[in-house]
Amino acid sequence: MVILGIETSCDETSAAVLEGAGEAVAQRSLVILSQDVHRVFGGVVPEIASRAHLAVIAPVVQRAIHDAEVSLDAIEAVAVTYAPGLVGALLVGLSYGKALSFSRDVPFIGVHHMEAHLFGTVLEHPEAIPPFTALLISGGHTLLIDVEHWGRYRLLGATRDDAAGEAFDKVAKLLGLPYPGGPHIERIARDGDPTRYRFTPPMIRGTHSSDPDYFDLSFSGLKTAVLRATRGVDLDSERPHLSRAFQDSLIAALVEKTLRAVRLYARERVVLGGGVACNRTLQEAMARTLAAAGAKLYAPSPRLATDNAAMIARAGLYHLEKGERSSLDLNAYATLPIPGLLAS
Ligand code: KG4
Ligand code: ZN
Repeated sequence: MVILGIETSCDETSAAVLEGAGEAVAQRSLVILSQDVHRVFGGVVPEIASRAHLAVIAPVVQRAIHDAEVSLDAIEAVAVTYAPGLVGALLVGLSYGKALSFSRDVPFIGVHHMEAHLFGTVLEHPEAIPPFTALLISGGHTLLIDVEHWGRYRLLGATRDDAAGEAFDKVAKLLGLPYPGGPHIERIARDGDPTRYRFTPPMIRGTHSSDPDYFDLSFSGLKTAVLRATRGVDLDSERPHLSRAFQDSLIAALVEKTLRAVRLYARERVVLGGGVACNRTLQEAMARTLAAAGAKLYAPSPRLATDNAAMIARAGLYHLEKGERSSLDLNAYATLPIPGLLAS
């Protein structure tokens, strides 16, 4: 099957064409247009995001079809993100995808954005298939999920407050770094002295999987600890050390929680997704710890870790192959649980 994917849930307008069936799926094209305008505001402005999607959705889709070296006639199905995200932004892609599916008379499937992140890595690493432990870490989400099969997800833990990427962005702001802050913190932390400041990794208490803190995460206390440490210091000289200590603490918490999940379910594979998965320091720490526990880490490259339509098409293909179809009155939702969640 040749499937077109569309993603407009936040500040990336993306379209992709995939071809294949089952686990043998090839990415024929992927176009991602990032809306740089939000940098001016230090965060995504929803109304501006919707308007920017509207201006470029048609050329982005056309470009993906062109790059795939297929014609519009060759597209056999359309998959579009319908939740979660900014409702106005989602509606642009959703309406476009519905119109395309209706006019071409091909099946249409709505895709949950966070479920799609689970499918991003397998496009590059064919071995990144269930069962695996997934850690999805982006600007809006922090989810630890046990993936028994595609479509069967056990939500083990989530953040109680800020998402991991949000913590990076807020701490970056405290340190006077540009938005989005994650890549800047990672870069600057390389010159940091790891012993100059120490922040206790958050929420690593809990000794048994029945403890409420065992899998959950929390980053707002860490952010406050960084804020306190910045008072009365010369930021220009302390910035690398503070960045280093913050990142070390956050990574230690993510690694510990992931390791707990791997052990409890005896998984041999861990899959990362979301913008924070681009962090090489995290990838290295995670891979090292997991290797010692007999598990292997699969991290997507930045284009597939951050928001993209290839993962939407891949997840859509999975649902279509199960015989699912969405109706053309499918709505967009700001928040919605991942479909296929098992009671934990
Ligand atoms: O998945 P994403 O592109 O967008 C959504 O939030 O959905 O993730 C963006 C987040 C931002 O918070 C950004 O600071 C973070 O990913 N990020 C990073 C790195 N690259 C991007 N965080 C830490 N280290 C990085 N190298
Ligand atoms: Zn995302």
